[in-house]
Formats: sequence, structure tokens, C-alpha cells
Amino acid sequence: MKQFGVHHLLLFAAAILLLPFATPDIASDRAALLGLRSAVGGRVLLWNLSSLTPCQWSGVVCSPENSSVVELHLPGMGLSGKLPSNTITNMTNLQTLSLRYNALSGPLPADIFSSLTSLRNLYLQHNFFSGQIPETLFSLTSLVRVNLAENNFSGPLSPSFNNLTRLGTLYLQNNHFSGPIPDLNLPTLDQFDVSNNNLTGEIPRGLSGKPKSSFAGNSLCGDPLDSCNGKPKKKLSGGAIAGIIIGSVLGFLVLLLLVFCLCRMLARKGVSSKDEGVVKEKELEIPTEKAMESGVGKDSPSSSFAAAMGAREKEKGEGRLLSGGKKGLVFLGKTGWNFDLDDLLRASAEVLGKGTFGTAYKAVMENGLAVAVKRLRDVNMGEKEFREKMEEVGKMDHENLVPLRAYYYNREEKLLVYDYLPMGSLSALLHGNKGGGRTPLNWETRAAIALGTARGISYLHSQGSTISHGNIKSSNILLTKSYEPRVSDFGLAQLAGPTATPNRVAGYRAPEVTDPHRVSQKADVYSFGVLLLELLTGKAPTHSLMNEEGVDLPRWVQSVVREEWTAEVFDLELLRYQNVEEDMVQLLQLAVDCTAQYPDNRPSMMKVVAKIEELSPKTSQYPIGDIVESHGLDSGSTPP
Ligand SMILES: *[C@@H]1O[C@H](CO)[C@@H](O)[C@H](O)[C@H]1NC(C)=O
Ligand SMILES: *[C@@H]1O[C@H](CO)[C@@H](O)[C@H](O)[C@H]1NC(C)=O
Ligand SMILES: *[C@@H]1O[C@H](CO)[C@@H](O)[C@H](O)[C@H]1NC(C)=O
Ligand SMILES: *[C@@H]1O[C@H](CO)[C@@H](O)[C@H](O)[C@H]1NC(C)=O
Ligand SMILES: *[C@@H]1O[C@H](CO)[C@@H](O)[C@H](O)[C@H]1NC(C)=O
Ligand SMILES: *[C@@H]1O[C@H](CO)[C@@H](O)[C@H](O)[C@H]1NC(C)=O
Repeated sequence: MKQFGVHHLLLFAAAILLLPFATPDIASDRAALLGLRSAVGGRVLLWNLSSLTPCQWSGVVCSPENSSVVELHLPGMGLSGKLPSNTITNMTNLQTLSLRYNALSGPLPADIFSSLTSLRNLYLQHNFFSGQIPETLFSLTSLVRVNLAENNFSGPLSPSFNNLTRLGTLYLQNNHFSGPIPDLNLPTLDQFDVSNNNLTGEIPRGLSGKPKSSFAGNSLCGDPLDSCNGKPKKKLSGGAIAGIIIGSVLGFLVLLLLVFCLCRMLARKGVSSKDEGVVKEKELEIPTEKAMESGVGKDSPSSSFAAAMGAREKEKGEGRLLSGGKKGLVFLGKTGWNFDLDDLLRASAEVLGKGTFGTAYKAVMENGLAVAVKRLRDVNMGEKEFREKMEEVGKMDHENLVPLRAYYYNREEKLLVYDYLPMGSLSALLHGNKGGGRTPLNWETRAAIALGTARGISYLHSQGSTISHGNIKSSNILLTKSYEPRVSDFGLAQLAGPTATPNRVAGYRAPEVTDPHRVSQKADVYSFGVLLLELLTGKAPTHSLMNEEGVDLPRWVQSVVREEWTAEVFDLELLRYQNVEEDMVQLLQLAVDCTAQYPDNRPSMMKVVAKIEELSPKTSQYPIGDIVESHGLDSGSTPP
């Protein structure tokens, strides 16, 4: 007890001793903040001036050791007047400067950026700043986000933007910038907007991939806007014809190159085209996520299901494993289906992908019925137990689940038969085919997918306090033609042997989960939270796609949100929708709650459903799914 007191006293003494000798950085940062405070009018910044370090002042964030100011956030504080010189630049360790939505005016002081070499985020949007962008900005090579939109800036856009090699966001819209757009060559530049300025000339090649709206309200031409040549219907000159020929030849070469690259990519994924109509073992190794994502196998010619399975038997030198006969296949519930194992074995089949518990096939029977068949591997369960488990899973009945329709069990082979859903998975929809020919997912659809998925999981959780899904991820959310979500792969986590690790996708796994076969309902909530973040940001979680890295979504979102609670988090495709920001931010908040570090801090799935239902009455109304499809009849793409 006494020791404790002495210890404290020592600490206290140390603190007293240290404070007056606060590091020179923090002292000069403090002076700079005071300089700024006295220069800008508006709402008084309620800072406790008797404290020696500014680290507790609102809007000020210090480094972990409190040795310098690293972030300054004063958004919407009614600040006005000009920024003084010799102040902001003194905060040499500043990483984020946010003065957005104020009434600051005048030119930026020429020295404002000269020492801010660590600056990553600059948010000055929505003020009355005028004049040119100070040249010193272009020496800040750490910059990632620059938002100068909705000001009165003028002058040309400098080609020195190319110095900012890490730039991801450049928002300059609604200013008076003039002259041509420099040829920016910034591979990381993702968010770009120069609309409503006074820019002229041709849009440089490096920016032609940006949306039209990024250039609106200027006198610009060229891709993605109209061509610069005016009327293309006039007679073509000799030069133009030569140009077209050369262009075509080049185009052809590029096409060849593309085809070549595509082939190589496919080969690398192990997706070679099929030999003699037999699905090879190699193909069976495609992980579901990637296969579904790339849509591989969808349009390839089909072999029979027996052949598809036989390929593996032959390689293993085993005999025929499956014996036909009606008794083999056990139907669950009223499916209205009338086929037996032989029909299934004769069905044309293609690999949909390899998932956590085995390979999935699409099998189309002679009568046109398409089903999805999952061939389990490494089942760690006796026959009786297995059959009981399947009956249990078969009873799960909810419009947002992919129902288990039938199963087959013998010692070597276990097959599960499900409805076939032609639209594939949410993962494929979100991350597949980016760039070309992809229909963007609008806000209503995403919100409806979030709600339906939550309802499906909530239903599972309502069946018993120990029942969880255990493997929630976007590749397990399948979609109907009307984009209703159906949760698949439930009830399998306990079946799997030690080698089939459910939820091996680290990006979805709750931090407390150590045994992937025992995933609590609160861990499901975490995974669902990551799924929500994926829907909102359009980004894939860590390891969820094969070749690409993905991001630690909860941490990434939290870091962005800490910097600025705004649009930067959301998928670009969502930003074009007006009047839904409020709902988007609410869903984001819910996702952050679901991904809380400690399970007890996460809401239950029932609460999650209620929260999403609150968002907007129209998102809770589904279009009524068509009955034919829900029974797995894929009238659209089956052969006659
Ligand atoms: C910023 O630093 C300069 C040079 O070190 C100094 O002269 C100036 O007074 C400082 N500004 C403020 C507001 O402390
Ligand atoms: C201001 O800071 C001083 C010194 O840190 C402290 O003693 C005082 O209580 C603070 N005042 C307020 C209103 O927080
Ligand atoms: C830094 O300052 C904050 C707030 O003033 C305080 O809570 C924290 O303990 C300080 N950290 C260090 C390492 O001194
Ligand atoms: C931009 O980079 C070039 C080459 O690295 C350099 O010469 C130039 O000074 C830089 N511009 C600015 C404004 O820092
Ligand atoms: C913006 O700048 C223009 C000149 O470039 C000036 O006429 C106008 O008054 C300025 N507007 C504001 C709100 O400062
Ligand atoms: C646009 O630029 C032209 C010439 O560059 C200038 O005459 C005109 O006033 C500018 N318009 C605006 C709205 O700034």
C-alpha cells in the first residue's frame, strides 16, 4: 500500500518536472495553434489556455508520446478571415489538416505547406479561399487526399501534381481553375473531380477512365466526353484515314496482347480450358471466391456430373464410388423434385468453385432442372450423426436462406443438393469484372441485400442459442435474379474435419475466434459487420480474393473515419446517389458497432435487423421473388 503511494508520488513528480520542459516540437505547435486561433474569427475555439500542451484541446490530435501535433480538425467551426503565414507550417509533424466547411477566405499563405512534409490529408473544401494553389503543395509527397473543392481558387492546374505519387483523392470541383488539365499520371488516383471550373482543352489520356461527371461544367473535350474533333461525319482526310488504319492495327495488337494476358492469367489460376469434356482435378482446386468472382465455368461446355466426379476417382485409382438407385438420395421437405441419383449422375455438370467444405457443381438434368451440388470433403462425423445433422439443416426454412433440398451419404462420398441460383455470389457482384461492362450496385439494392442477409442470419440464430453460421462472407451470400440475398453454407461448420477450416478468410474472422469449428453468434455478428463494410466501401476484406491482398476493413474504416467522418469511406459507385448519405452513415455506424473488438459490445442479429429496417421504409420491401426460380429451375440459361 505504502509502496504504491510512493510510486505514484514519483510519477507525479516526474510529470511536474517534465511538463515545463515539454519538447520544443509541442511548444512550437502550441504557439502555432494560438497564432491560428487569434487570426481567425468566428466561433471562439474553447481551448484551455492554461494547459501547457495542446493535446487535450478539441480538434487537436497529438502523437502517441504527446511530442507533437499530428492532426488538426476544425470542420464547420465558423472560422473566417485569412490564414496567417508562419503558423500552420510550424506544425511540422502534421499529417491531417481539416478546415473544411468554414468561411475562411483570401489566398493561402505562400509558406503554408513549406514544412509539412508528413501531411497526408488536406481538407479545405467549402470555404472562400481564392488565388492559386501555393507551389509548396507539390513538395508534399506524402499526400494521399487533397480536397480543395467548393472554394474560389483560380489559376492553372500545375503539372507538378505528378510529384504527389501517393495521391488517391484529388477534388478540385466548384472553383475557378482555368487552362488545360495537365497530363496526370498517378496510378493510385482513384477519386478525381474537376467539375465546374473554367478548364479548357483536351482531357489527357491518363484521366480518360474517370467518369464524365468529374469533368462536367468546363469546356473540355475528349474521352470520356465528346471527341475534340467536332463533326466526325465530314469527309475524312488522307491523314485521318491513315490514322484510322494505324489505330486499327494498334487496336488489334492491343487486343491480341489482352487475350494473351487473359490466357496467362487464367492459366495461373489453374483454370485451363477443359480437356475432352472432363473436369480435371486441377480445376477442382479453384477456390470458390476466385472462381465465382471471375465467373469461370459459367459458360464452359459441360461434362456429365459422373465424369466430373470420376476424374478424381481415376486419379486416385479408386473404383466407382457411387451406387445408383433411388434410395441413395434423401430428399428433405417438399421439394416437388422428381429425380434420383442416376439422373443426377447423368446431368451435365460444371464446376462452380471450390469452397471451404468441398467443391460445388452446377448440374443440369435432362428435364432442364438445374441444381447446385456440393461435394463435401473431410467429413468428420459418423453416418447416424450426419443424417441427423442433415435433417436439422433441412428444416431451416427462411426466404433468405439457400435451402438444403437433398443429400446423399455413403462412406466415401457425401453430396448436398441445393437450389441453383444463377446470379452467383455477392462477392462476384462486388469485386468481379471491375472496370468493364459491370452494372453498378445501387444503394437500394445494397441496403436490401444487407437487410435480407441480416434476416437470414437472425433466423438461424433464433433456432437456438448455440446455432451459428460460422462462415459468413460475401461469397456465401448468393443472389436471385431480383437480387434478393440467400445465405448459403449454414450448418456445415461442425461437419468439417480439421483440414477444412471454416472461415479461413481472415478478413471476416472475429478477433476472439480461435477454433474455427466453434464460432459464436457474436462472432457471426462480427463477420456480418465486415460484410456490411464490404457493401459500403466496395473493398474486399483481407485474403478474401485469391491474388489481391484486400484490406483489413474494420481497421481501415476506423482509420479513415478517425481522419474524417465522410464520404471518403464509401464506394465511389454510391456517391452518385443523392439524399442517402444519412442512411449510408447510419449503416456504416452499425457496421462499426458489429465489428467491435469485444463480443459483448456487438449488437445481436435481431437488433441489427431492427436497425437496418429503421433506415428507410422502402428498403425493407422486397420485390416478390418468382417461385420458379426459388425451386431452382433456371429457365433462362438451361439447354432445352
Ligand atoms: C513559427 O516559426 C517561426 C520560425 O521558427 C517563428 O519565427 C514564428 O514566430 C513561429 N510562429 C508562431 C505562430 O509561433
Ligand atoms: C485547464 O488546465 C489546467 C492545467 O492543466 C487545469 O488545472 C484546469 O482545471 C483546466 N481547466 C478546465 C476548465 O478544464
Ligand atoms: C498524452 O496526452 C493525453 C491527453 O492529454 C494523455 O491522456 C496521455 O496519457 C498522454 N500520453 C503520454 C504518453 O504522455
Ligand atoms: C516536382 O518534382 C520534380 C522532379 O522530381 C522537381 O524538379 C520539382 O521541383 C518538383 N516540384 C515541386 C513544386 O516541388
Ligand atoms: C471569387 O473570385 C472572383 C474572381 O476570381 C471574384 O469576382 C468573386 O467575388 C470571388 N467570390 C468570393 C465569394 O470570394
Ligand atoms: C474563364 O476563363 C476565361 C479566360 O481564360 C476568362 O475570360 C473568364 O472570365 C473565366 N470565367 C470565369 C467564370 O472564371
